[in-house]
Amino acid sequence: MIVRIAARILSPHLQLSEEETAGLIEIPPRPEMGDAALPCFSLAKLLRQSPQAIAERLAQAVNGSGDGVRAETAGGYLNLFLDPAHWGVRLLGQVAADEYGKLRVGEGRHVVIDMSSPNIAKPFGIGHLRSTMIGNALANLYTAAGWRVTRVNHLGDWGTQFGKLISAYRRWGDRSLLEAEPIRESLRLYVKFHEEAENDPMLEDEARGWFRKLESGDEETLALWRYFVEESLKEFNRVYARLGVSFDLFQGESFYNDKMGAVVERLTELSLLEESDGAQVVRLDELGMPPCLILKSDGTTIYPTRDLATAIYRKKQLDADLLLYVVGSEQALHFAQVFAVLGKMGEAWNADCRHVPFGLMKFEGKKMSTRRGKVIFLDEVLDEAVAKALEIIVEKNPELADKTQTAEAIGVGAIIFADLKNRRQLSVDFQMEEALSFDGETGPYLQYTHARMLSLLRKGGYEELKQRGTAVDGQYLETPASWACLKTVSGFEESILQAVRENEPSVLARYLLELTKDFNRYYNEGKMIVESEDETFAKLSVAAAAARVLGDGLRLLGMKAPERM
Ligand code: ARG
Repeated sequence: MIVRIAARILSPHLQLSEEETAGLIEIPPRPEMGDAALPCFSLAKLLRQSPQAIAERLAQAVNGSGDGVRAETAGGYLNLFLDPAHWGVRLLGQVAADEYGKLRVGEGRHVVIDMSSPNIAKPFGIGHLRSTMIGNALANLYTAAGWRVTRVNHLGDWGTQFGKLISAYRRWGDRSLLEAEPIRESLRLYVKFHEEAENDPMLEDEARGWFRKLESGDEETLALWRYFVEESLKEFNRVYARLGVSFDLFQGESFYNDKMGAVVERLTELSLLEESDGAQVVRLDELGMPPCLILKSDGTTIYPTRDLATAIYRKKQLDADLLLYVVGSEQALHFAQVFAVLGKMGEAWNADCRHVPFGLMKFEGKKMSTRRGKVIFLDEVLDEAVAKALEIIVEKNPELADKTQTAEAIGVGAIIFADLKNRRQLSVDFQMEEALSFDGETGPYLQYTHARMLSLLRKGGYEELKQRGTAVDGQYLETPASWACLKTVSGFEESILQAVRENEPSVLARYLLELTKDFNRYYNEGKMIVESEDETFAKLSVAAAAARVLGDGLRLLGMKAPERM
């Protein structure tokens, strides 16, 4: 918001629109350098003046205007200092408005987000947790930016692994064990298959045979497959409910079974398919990529073919303007190949397809691999986090009414925030103790500060003062800590926009940490509730603005913001 204020003040003095001016304005790293700065170097050519001369001229114009702004020059920089008493009141007014944080830049555009997309008959893995949380935060952020958003769960419900599972079930399976614990039992079968296959290569052939049967629509095999899908969905839906995530569409890989023929046909028509070791591929040599496999030698379809059909469906049937795929970095080549093949098919909109990759997540230093059965069950991690949160609450606030619910919000929130707080491409090593600490860069720290803000507002009678029509007196907003906090509060919309531009929820996560730090510095500066009602109201208004932004921000990240902790 500061950038927009500065742009509005400066643009009449430049031959630029407000938008263009805003694009040039910077927020200086230190408050001594101003609240906003305009580097005049790039303007020198346009205005045929030296950067220094431009800065001087602007400074004179600004200082004579009486807008509650003071200007200084430093070389070719123009530094603006806003008067906190004057502008603070206005900022507070804008932050309190209903529309604050509801932007319109995406209006009329539709983004389809491929997120979560776990594999059927396997436990919900940590990689899928990251995809779920990053995807959910992005979906919320795009919504806040005014986009229409469709969240799609591209379930891994088709492919050779079902051949393996069916083959293992036929050999070593037991219906009653499967019915008692479907996911664990499927995992046991899956692991057993891989162990046995090491000594018996025939098993792989057998599995391929079952998958071929599945693809050709064999009813008995399909029934078994359907059972695995249903049971897995029950389990996944429990996880989603706990994480507070929902989807607009569950369209797994099998959804595209009847849509791949057309893709293969088009590729054939365009003479893009080539034979290689009996398989059909699209060569991508000219792009420096290995060939993209389209049909296996036994004629069965595979992952890339399904993704070609998927992208075309989302573009043409769902009418998407932007297609995001929130999937681990290890699939970067896969997506690069799929998008490249789309390009070769003449689908120029492949430029609107984006892989949003992220790094690995380890738990207490442990990696996981489903094949070897080294699985960390998400439910267990969540349970442990919630139990720890409950311990802390019982110790800190034994009187709290709904401890269990609050502990769930904090425990789950701690995991979400640990996932989202760093740039997504970095790997995450989740440490339970650290993630649950109430101070430090954690979810609980943010939630706790938010709850403290609300309790401060209750204690100071903020709502009553507001009902009585008390106005904010700007003279109480002038301390550096108060002004710093207000400026940060007013940067919420910019942080949403930047997060969307970079498909990077950590931008918002970092912003919320900074906001919380700034608020705590302000809070610790002196008493918030004082003798004078006017002074109390002004100070509580800053707290109310910070609470509003922090609460909304946490919800955008997919976390809860409990009122009491
Ligand atoms: N099920 C896949 C996996 O776990 C992820 C799917 C991602 N989405 C896609 N359209 N390929 O590896």
